[in-house]
Amino acid sequence: MIPTLAWTPEGVRFIDQTRLPLEESYVLATTFEQVADVIVTMVVRGAPAIGVSAAYGVALGALRSKSKTAEEFEPEFVKVCARLAGTRPTAVNLFWAIDRMKRIFAGLLVGGASIERVRDAFVSEAHTMYGEDIAACKSMGAFGGDLLPAEGGVLTHCNAGALATCGYGTALGVIRSAVEKGKKIRVYADETRPFLQGARLTAWELMEDGIDTTVICDNMAASLMRAGRIQAVVVGADRIAANGDFANKIGTYNVAILAKEHGIPFYVAAPWSTIDTATPTGDAIPIEERNPVEVTHHGGKQLTPNGVGICNPAFDVTPARYVTAIITERGVLRAPYADSLKKLDSSTNPA
Ligand code: MRU
Repeated sequence: MIPTLAWTPEGVRFIDQTRLPLEESYVLATTFEQVADVIVTMVVRGAPAIGVSAAYGVALGALRSKSKTAEEFEPEFVKVCARLAGTRPTAVNLFWAIDRMKRIFAGLLVGGASIERVRDAFVSEAHTMYGEDIAACKSMGAFGGDLLPAEGGVLTHCNAGALATCGYGTALGVIRSAVEKGKKIRVYADETRPFLQGARLTAWELMEDGIDTTVICDNMAASLMRAGRIQAVVVGADRIAANGDFANKIGTYNVAILAKEHGIPFYVAAPWSTIDTATPTGDAIPIEERNPVEVTHHGGKQLTPNGVGICNPAFDVTPARYVTAIITERGVLRAPYADSLKKLDSSTNPA
């Protein structure tokens, strides 16, 4: 399995996604600050992977602390959580994972736990999230694989694969599962400017698995759809609002509009931890604006004239009306999403 991130006795080991596909190298983060840095610099990226990384970052915060008790550690814990939460604003999985660590810590604090107990509990909770993430991806794959056609082209945008999760992937998990079911799928991977997650990462990991993959520039999708070469679209998500609007990599909205125009089903695959019912609609999702250098330069080479204006929002919001179905580990949701989200939540999480 592709080793996106792994806990080791020294810290968290990340495959360096800034160097793929030309170089398979690893970065070891031994402190929570280093985990925060690898998230900001996108050595690790993708909503579920960021969440689990942050949980391990919190564990490293406790492991490196000189405090002797949970109580003594508390002010440090607050700083560790704030630093990790400040890395990237859009993927709600980051905040979901940190909140989960906060709940564990609150219990330990009340129980007057030693720092050793805090460390053990944090590492164990992060391991649980890691395992749950892979299981969720497999389950999404099982549900979503059935929705893809027996044969045909499937377009995906960005990388919502093993590299964006602890393994298997969300959108790419759906594709992997369809292929495992014997479906003859040709994947079209949007290159995904400016960071090229599609050209570099989706292409790399699907090739590793021997899945038929073709990279296209972002501006080619419409033409391929018109030519009848795309039978379905499947993408991931960074945050799904209560009404089904969702944020994903910039350019996803374009693809959704194109799919609707051409009558092509458009699926979103995401774990339940990506659903943020506290955010009523897509308009309230915070969109990360990244460094203009990602647009002005490529491979250290300047592409644009000095001083030109640059806009670099990392995500966009696709309104729910463009979504054919949302595939989660709990089942497949259909419009109206406000109702189906509530229904599936209460049937799987009875009060
Ligand atoms: O900026 P990135 O590379 O972290 O953006 C990733 C995406 O937009 C993915 O599609 C999303 O996180 C879903 S990953 C399973």
